[in-house]
Amino acid sequence: MKDQYGRAITYMRISITDRCNLHCQYCMPGEPKQIPREEILSYEEICQTAEAAVNLGITHFRITGGEPLVRKDCFRLIRMLHQINGVERVSMTTNGVLLFSFMNELASAGLDDVNVSLDTLNRGEFLHLTGKDSLSSVLEGIEAAVESGIPVKLNAVNRRGMDWRSLVSYAESRKIPLRFIEMMPIGHGKNHMGSSNEELLKQIEEIYGPARPVENSSDPGNLIMEEQGRGPARYYRFQNLNTKIGFISAIHHRFCESCNRVRLSSTGYLKACLCYQQGADLRPILRDPAQSDDLVRVMREVIYRKPREHDFDHMKNITEKKSMNRIGG
Ligand code: 5AD
Ligand code: SF4
Repeated sequence: MKDQYGRAITYMRISITDRCNLHCQYCMPGEPKQIPREEILSYEEICQTAEAAVNLGITHFRITGGEPLVRKDCFRLIRMLHQINGVERVSMTTNGVLLFSFMNELASAGLDDVNVSLDTLNRGEFLHLTGKDSLSSVLEGIEAAVESGIPVKLNAVNRRGMDWRSLVSYAESRKIPLRFIEMMPIGHGKNHMGSSNEELLKQIEEIYGPARPVENSSDPGNLIMEEQGRGPARYYRFQNLNTKIGFISAIHHRFCESCNRVRLSSTGYLKACLCYQQGADLRPILRDPAQSDDLVRVMREVIYRKPREHDFDHMKNITEKKSMNRIGG
């Protein structure tokens, strides 16, 4: 369906857990309090929500966390989602630590693509940033995902002083699209703001030559073109680089006009925009058979009233207080 500003909402990110096996400084440093299990939606409840979402025109679902692979039998949810009539695509965003162990199950459950977060290729820095010495597991996971043949993308949060060169050459050597994400002032991200993708693009140009945007029409049938139209990333090719680089620049290049998404938290809160709390708690509806007729109506209302744009420039207007591991990126 379309929201009040005429945007077609076709994509839902589903956070299935707030738990994570890493503790990234900008996301969940330390040991945050965990949401009690009984507050977390069951796979059946998630699918009930997804069915209602399909009724409203949502066809693409992305499973996120925390870290989705720490939740038991996560591949079962992929299979269940694919069984819903009208579900066209089921994707996942993972930190990659457990990807090697689960790749076969995920692929046979029908996972359509996977995004892996990778902020550094330096073991010491990875440990410093995430609190865990798990870089080699992540790299094994990426290799396994590439091997499996499903489309893989890498996400790196743009941090000041980051070694983007090694990430770019790693992505080039594996022919994997790499996207740089501007830090957003959500949760602990507020304390790590400041690097702009625009500056990064210039730095990449200094090494790899002039950039030109990848046009919608230039790559027919290709995953990146598909993303170009639908997602927040703007892709560029550089003269002397053999892979495309995407930039997700929420702060310095607002993409709200073409936003196509809503988010479901692990506790069943349907959220309309990353920046605001605005939305509705679906869990009481899901857990009370007497209210089940309300589900589609309440979801329709949240989607229709989706805010026009984020206001990350004004801290006082950011009403979302949850940390990113409770939102799912
Ligand atoms: N801003 C931007 N990206 C973030 N992520 C976590 N916190 C933030 C933030 N404040 C990213 C992770 C991962 C994805 C799930 O969200 O690095 O790639
Ligand atoms: Fe875990 Fe991702 Fe948050 Fe890092 S950014 S702590 S990997 S959820």
